Amino acid sequence: MKFFVDTAEIDAIAELNDLGMVDGVTTNPSLILKSGRDILDVTKEICDLVEGPVSAEVVATEADDMIAEGRKLAEIAPNIAVKVPLTWAGLKTCKTLTDEGRMVNVTLCFSANQALLAAKAGATFISPFIGRLDDIHLDGMDLIADIRTIYDNFGFETQILAASIRSVNHVSDCARIGADVITAPPGVIKKLADHPLTDKGLEAFLSDWAKTGQKIL
Ligand code: E4P
Repeated sequence: MKFFVDTAEIDAIAELNDLGMVDGVTTNPSLILKSGRDILDVTKEICDLVEGPVSAEVVATEADDMIAEGRKLAEIAPNIAVKVPLTWAGLKTCKTLTDEGRMVNVTLCFSANQALLAAKAGATFISPFIGRLDDIHLDGMDLIADIRTIYDNFGFETQILAASIRSVNHVSDCARIGADVITAPPGVIKKLADHPLTDKGLEAFLSDWAKTGQKIL
């Protein structure tokens, strides 16, 4: 399973990238706002840093404008995945841009039928939002499982990019179900290493080691 980082914060991306934990990056208009950076500048910087796909989102709502925005974003670097919302205009944009050989990430997916449409439009990635479904008392992980089944039934090559990840359990559940990619905030990815028994075990080992009076270096 690939790890994408869901942020436009360069330092956070660089830190995880140095550890080999970054297979790609996703951004959205809210994350660009949070970064305080110009979208073209920060996206270029991210593309220079990371080898894998970097999602940059269009903000137009009509297909012709979305396509124009998508082409402009795609010019930033060869590893740009143009992110479009799951609307009919977004699907039209997806079909046009993927026919041109560009990567497209169809975002704001909340149902299996929407994911089916994105696959038929040739999407490179489909982004089902787990946390936002959980927020309204639906089960986001059921959606990931449904899409996995449907894509496998018909051999769709669109990659399931599980998004709106809020917890470490979301990550392990996605891995178990077989999502192709998760995109998570840096804080969630860093928490994956945490376990209280690791901390407790290390404390005991270090305490016993101190009693040996030995040194390795
Ligand atoms: C995905 O590409 C989105 O940027 C993101 O995962 C949304 O997450 P949120 O629901 O926590 O805002």
